[in-house]
Amino acid sequence: MTILHISAECYPVAKVGGLADVVGALPKYQNSSSTTSQVIMPFYDNKFTQENTFSSVYDAQLKLGDSVYDFQILVLKDKPLDFDVFFVNVPDLLFKDYVYSFDDTERFLAFQIGALDWLLTWHDYPDIIHCHDHHTGLVPFMLQESYKYEAFRNIPNIITIHNAQYQGWFSHEKVGLIPPFNFDHVGLLDWGSQINPLAAGIKCAWSVTTVSPSYMEELKQAANGLESLLSAESEKCTGILNGIDWKVWNPETDTYIVKSYDIETVDKGASSNKKYLCDTFNLDFKKPLFAFIGRLVDEKGSDLFPEVFKLALEKDNLSILLLGSGNKMVEGQLQDLKSDFVGTYNAFIGYDEKLSHIIYAGADFLLMPSRVEPCGLNQMYALRYGTIPIVRSIGGLKDTVTDINEEGGFGICHPNTAVSEITEAIDRAITLYKDQPTYKGIRRQIMAIDHSWDASAGEYINLYNTLKSSQQ
Ligand code: ADP
Ligand code: GLC
Repeated sequence: MTILHISAECYPVAKVGGLADVVGALPKYQNSSSTTSQVIMPFYDNKFTQENTFSSVYDAQLKLGDSVYDFQILVLKDKPLDFDVFFVNVPDLLFKDYVYSFDDTERFLAFQIGALDWLLTWHDYPDIIHCHDHHTGLVPFMLQESYKYEAFRNIPNIITIHNAQYQGWFSHEKVGLIPPFNFDHVGLLDWGSQINPLAAGIKCAWSVTTVSPSYMEELKQAANGLESLLSAESEKCTGILNGIDWKVWNPETDTYIVKSYDIETVDKGASSNKKYLCDTFNLDFKKPLFAFIGRLVDEKGSDLFPEVFKLALEKDNLSILLLGSGNKMVEGQLQDLKSDFVGTYNAFIGYDEKLSHIIYAGADFLLMPSRVEPCGLNQMYALRYGTIPIVRSIGGLKDTVTDINEEGGFGICHPNTAVSEITEAIDRAITLYKDQPTYKGIRRQIMAIDHSWDASAGEYINLYNTLKSSQQ
């Protein structure tokens, strides 16, 4: 079976968040003697593309409404990844030093059209087309409706919703950018009087998945306007929990961290990484270290951090380190807090992959008070590195973290994203930390939990097989 993933992000080529981690790992785990999994993504102007060499395997022009753009399909020349990655290069549109911005409509439409135009030239079409998020949501529509892509009508395709908050809305005035289709079916593009690529993907894809079972259920109640659509389409919807790439996220072999370790050596190993963090960021090594890594957006509950951190730090019994960027006001408040808590608090505003690995290894607890969390990978990375997650029980966090007060539990859970609940959870963590034998036992317990892609990659293959067997 051949699978083609279409995505805006893929680690290590271009990463904004978890989408990249998933698309950079799932194909690796899907590749086997009977399955070939490949990725097609945009060609951006970034560190990865600057440091690698590419060759063109296809040169043509694509039409976006009345405009015509040169484009190429590029492949990596001499440093292949673990699976094939094809790059759509539309120099005038896609090749920018950002992944997402104000011009996403044109850029991602060009990407989708370029990918499908090239696919028309393939001798054997892929057995499955797997789209990810709204940036590729018009693919299922075009496969089903565009005159140009009639040859693809019978290819089973799925769309995975990594985050339904973002839907790629644009005005009907731009409908002419989409290759010609039977206009009687224009309603398939519409949701709430706008063109909504995610909604179109949900309506037209053969199957819709979300990145955790709980998130699928939650979306039927609240999906930024798409809840009734998801309820209506629920027969073709499934939640499949993400995995993590055990080859990349492995404290035994991780070259980013200061000292590597395994379950037997975690106390010493994690402690060396904590020491490095405390020395580098001027934090108190003797106190339990709480960390946050992520986008500073309301979904992650990060707007509450300035108040939560202040209340917690005033008690002078913990250290806090934050790595993230996003909302400028929150960034400013988090920076301002530094001068009030010198020696127990620090924040690195920005993006730093290496530092994130050291934090997963060196922190004692990881905070994730998300309002919305479709899956969340951070808690799974934390578990793998022996760092205890403190989570709001929602979406994928609910599916992966069990509270210490429950049988077999290993994390700290709170039901709501509220200042009082987060500070109470922090207090519970501090109590746990004081009981070092129990704390260390949990640390070993969580490192053994298997969240590798092995299980979930198989669930996708089962789904593909079901779709293939329904093919006419
Ligand atoms: P989301 O995709 O919603 O941002 P996930 O938990 O699925 O959340 O994945 C976030 C990914 O991005 C993880 O790999 C996390 O380590 C990484 N990440 C987020 N912010 C940063 C940052 N500032 N620096 C380094 N890595 C980050
Ligand atoms: C999205 C979600 C996150 C999920 C990631 C990968 O960015 O916000 O919860 O883990 O996609 O599926």
